[in-house]
Amino acid sequence: MVVRLDNIRKAFASGFLMKRKAVLRGVSLGIHAGDAYALLGANGAGKSTTLRILLGLTRADAGEGRLFGRPLDDRVVHARLGYLPENPSFHEQLTAREFLSYCGKLVGLRSAALSRRVDELLERVRLEDARNIRLRKMSKGMLQRLGLAQVLLADPELLVLDEPMSGLDPPGRKLVRDLIVEQRDAGKTVLFSTHILSDAEVVCTRAGILRGGLVVRELSLEELGRLQSESVEVEVSGLPDALVRQLQTRARSVIHAAGSVLFTVAPGREVRDLLQSTLAAGGNVESIVPRRVSLEEVYLDTTRREVEAHDTRPLAPVGSGGAR
Ligand SMILES: Nc1ncnc2c1ncn2[C@@H]1O[C@H](COP(=O)(O)OP(=O)(O)O)[C@@H](O)[C@H]1O
Ligand SMILES: [Mg+2]
Repeated sequence: MVVRLDNIRKAFASGFLMKRKAVLRGVSLGIHAGDAYALLGANGAGKSTTLRILLGLTRADAGEGRLFGRPLDDRVVHARLGYLPENPSFHEQLTAREFLSYCGKLVGLRSAALSRRVDELLERVRLEDARNIRLRKMSKGMLQRLGLAQVLLADPELLVLDEPMSGLDPPGRKLVRDLIVEQRDAGKTVLFSTHILSDAEVVCTRAGILRGGLVVRELSLEELGRLQSESVEVEVSGLPDALVRQLQTRARSVIHAAGSVLFTVAPGREVRDLLQSTLAAGGNVESIVPRRVSLEEVYLDTTRREVEAHDTRPLAPVGSGGAR
């Protein structure tokens, strides 16, 4: 396992009375080599805090974590990872090329190899025409892409990206998505946070939903895949009412429209049975549409269930030391 967090707790003191507010109340997650793991959660859910604790930039109040099997404060493993903070800030006077060359030297690249790598990365993040522009003149999107190039410099085994798609236009988002998929396919491990579900959906192999200071749900690739074809909508017409009533009992839902009936059924056998019955009765199949359940719906569903659970039991007291 590349990353493991066990029961991580963190509270911050804030406000006039410096009251401690629990942000993480026992976060646990595990990330295997080759995973692209999306840490999902609303703004303020604690995503950045979780990543910062993992990277040893913030200390947890309680709990344990491992990075490449070693304790989180073990600096040796940091050579194997690249980190893009949420709001990266750079040396404004440098040009894109100077900045990457400077970072490259820090990770041990020299002369021709350094020069080659820098040009290759500028091209990869589509900044080749901006190589001599000073960073203070760059847009948020350009800086974000430069930050990604910097993360890739030393070809890290683990990429930790905090909201890598935020502030980007659609082509920029696509570039980040492609980069994540590319790294994943090259056997690298990617951990990224986002509050934009649609960005996570297309690239992640696993997702964890952070809410109320906990990872309330984790989804594997199989679960993500199953969600994508959880039911099929079949629209048929020309069926006798008696048959519709009979088929209705086996469908998940039925909508009667003018002249046709829309059945929602499970994929596979139920679809086949419905089609056979329809055709045997001389009816027409108007359309067959796999009904994808998006991550967004899962997220909302999980959130709803959480709220319902909280409605029926009193909220646990939040004390210092992160009692739950
Ligand atoms: N250094 C800090 N001091 C006080 N409060 C903090 C600090 N860092 C984060 N917080 C608070 O912790 C909560 C979670 O923040 P964060 O981890 O940045 O969430 P996310 O990245 O999911 O938006 C927020 O309420 C934030 O205000
Ligand atoms: Mg954040």
